Amino acid sequence: MKFKGKDIISMRDFSKKEIEHILAIAKKMEPIARGKKKSQLLAGQILANLFFEPSTRTRLSFATAMRRLGGGVIDLSEPEMSSIVKGESLTDTIRAVQAYADIIVLRHPREGSARLAAEIADIPVINAGDGAGHHPTQTLLDLYTIDREKGKIKGLTVALLGDLKYGRTVHSLAYALSLFGANMIFVSPENLQMPTDVVVDLKERGVVVAQTSNIEEVIPKIDVLYVTRIQRERFPDPEEYESVKGAYRIDLELLKKAKKDFVIMHPLPRVDEITPEVDQTSHAIYFKQAFYGVPVRMALLALVLGGIK
Ligand code: NCD
Repeated sequence: MKFKGKDIISMRDFSKKEIEHILAIAKKMEPIARGKKKSQLLAGQILANLFFEPSTRTRLSFATAMRRLGGGVIDLSEPEMSSIVKGESLTDTIRAVQAYADIIVLRHPREGSARLAAEIADIPVINAGDGAGHHPTQTLLDLYTIDREKGKIKGLTVALLGDLKYGRTVHSLAYALSLFGANMIFVSPENLQMPTDVVVDLKERGVVVAQTSNIEEVIPKIDVLYVTRIQRERFPDPEEYESVKGAYRIDLELLKKAKKDFVIMHPLPRVDEITPEVDQTSHAIYFKQAFYGVPVRMALLALVLGGIK
């Protein structure tokens, strides 16, 4: 397995074996991620966080991951304060930033932007979300969360709920879950269904997927419910957004029908898809999930920047 210097653009860049390796390293990183053990593994190395779209968890957990391993972080989180406003292209920004850092973490509204940046940069690029495209590090932490909280992935029934059309996390996750032998049910309003190319690819690889718009119907059958936000910023037509906003609400009433040990995940931010009362139940694991982003990103940084194999 060769991770050193690798770009991380899509889940397809990894084999199942490689994913398992990353998750195993993440497990070892947990005490450092919690601040209970110290590490200087990446001392002297610098990560550049380039975020051209809002972010809380992804940006901050990458920064924490790098710092917990002794590395430094530079940040472009307010593009309106950078030379982008003077008309600088993404290409030129990447060319310049690569001279200041050892690794670039990029979030950008355009699909394909991370792949483009990786082609330009001589240093590794990690895709932290490219429009409605991919979000591979979110998927790695989602897999880690399922494995950690349920003890396995294979054979579980996972429902992906919400905006499956524009949500990049579910595009990456559906592919990865198929590698691990989970059963999937896609639950969305009709106009926000999983893109056809994703569904066709899964079917061609022999994965059985069910699609519905009715969450009540599926809730008793599932082990994991992965809720997503309706991605308002990606709707070309605000009226279309108005017609689907608030389409789903996970509340205590709905949970009465669920299996006792079923878990609810969400990449966050949440808007109104999950009522706050649900947070107090044993099913809600989305804030733990947000923490797991730290050890998982530590594992990736350690592997890519060459500290460990
Ligand atoms: C997600 C994203 O940016 O795609 N957030 C995240 O990284 N945790 C989900 C979202 O914005 O809805």
